Amino acid sequence: MTRVLILNGPNLGRLGSREPDVYGSASFADLVDAAARWGADAGLEVEVRQTDSESELVGWLHGAVDARSHVVLNPAAFTHYSYALRDAAAQVTSAGLVLVEVHLSNPYAREEFRHTSVIGAVATGTVAGFGFDSYRLGLDAVRTAVR
Ligand code: DQA
Repeated sequence: MTRVLILNGPNLGRLGSREPDVYGSASFADLVDAAARWGADAGLEVEVRQTDSESELVGWLHGAVDARSHVVLNPAAFTHYSYALRDAAAQVTSAGLVLVEVHLSNPYAREEFRHTSVIGAVATGTVAGFGFDSYRLGLDAVRTAVR
């Protein structure tokens, strides 16, 4: 079965209480539940993780390469400045795996510092601005790309 890791960066564990006007009122646990449903429906083996640690996220990307898992990645604030994460993400796509960068909000409609993604150029593609549906669409993109 096709494996997909849904990896989430800093502050995304606070969904539900974090700036609900921007990120909605559903919690991270709700996202985990929704992703399990979408995975089951799509015939994908899905696992969702979140960390506030850059090094842990880099390690998970290395693990994705080694386990041949595709990745749906919400790098959160690391999106905008983490070259370490970019270099790790590049290893995923250069290994022939799909990596979809996702965002709940549309960073291009927000503050200027969010307009830069250092991940986007090494991702297979990006989905942003659709709330939880960004993840659903990201999973769908993986399914389509590996078909
Ligand atoms: C985010 C957008 C980022 O700019 C921000 O730092 C986040 C969440 C999103 O999902 O909309 O933490 O990645």
